[in-house]
Amino acid sequence: MKGIVLAGGTGSRLYPATLAASKHLIPIYDKPMIYYPLSVLMLAAIRDILVISTPEDLPLYRRLLGDGSSFGVRLSFVEQTRPEGLAQAFVLGKDFIGKENVCLILGDNIFYGNGLKVFLSKASNLKEGAEVFAFPIRDPQKFGIIEVDVNNKAISIEEKPKNPKSNLAVAGLYFYDNEVVKIVQNLKPSTRGELEITDVNKHYLENKRLVVNIVGRGIAWLDTGTHDDLIKASVFVEAVENRQGLKIACLEEIGFKNGWITKDELILSGRKMQDTDYGRYILSL
Ligand code: DAU
Repeated sequence: MKGIVLAGGTGSRLYPATLAASKHLIPIYDKPMIYYPLSVLMLAAIRDILVISTPEDLPLYRRLLGDGSSFGVRLSFVEQTRPEGLAQAFVLGKDFIGKENVCLILGDNIFYGNGLKVFLSKASNLKEGAEVFAFPIRDPQKFGIIEVDVNNKAISIEEKPKNPKSNLAVAGLYFYDNEVVKIVQNLKPSTRGELEITDVNKHYLENKRLVVNIVGRGIAWLDTGTHDDLIKASVFVEAVENRQGLKIACLEEIGFKNGWITKDELILSGRKMQDTDYGRYILSL
């Protein structure tokens, strides 16, 4: 399975912080935001990863992440010249995806918690159809909302509904079979001019090929869309890391534990950053 991190967009809800650089470079506590979605793909054992961002920001991601070898993944980069929707990832990523299945994660979504790896391993073994994750949310008007029956089977899905049929939001982590590449070719832009991921999910739902995992208390899903969300996410990460002495989204740690980098490579990365808690943590491993 291939992985895509979508890290473009205008970031206009975070101006002036994002006037000069991409939102996904903003630190969430001790590391750039994009580390968190990257860590989720790595936990799902996905090694070939495409980063999509704006032409202005892409050089910054190359500088930050290199080719991914320092944490054991293979990174590719593609430009999105205009933010024309989440589903455009599969148009821009067509060559990268090839004949494989694909997981898309939004660059501003953070997931953490007990059992996450189990969910991810199951979804990344997807043979056909699509698999998404739904979380209860207090402000359903802001998300893709899914309605389920008594057996937790999806009935309907709507993007930012005025009158939501449930409080279950579809998180920004989607697993698809290779058909997604064909589906987006026939997708029409919505009234806001975007290729909507919700329309892709609707297609799978109508063909009875959408699996919805409803996630309970054990896993945290944090959004980073506003300044308030950013500070809340940082406080959350700081609390977990400093209480437990374990880092969230330490890419070098995940790469090492997956067997993708050697002990020597791990030490090299740690030494480069040894003036920081992050670097010392890597060395302590
Ligand atoms: O966070 C989950 C929600 O994400 C889902 O529940 C919704 O169904 C889905 O549409 C999406 O809603 P948002 O309103 O949060 O999407 P937003 O436009 O804020 O974009 C999410 C991320 O994707 C953000 O980091 C910017 C990036 N992006 C967005 C667009 C539209 C791109 O890189 N390119 C784009 O064209």
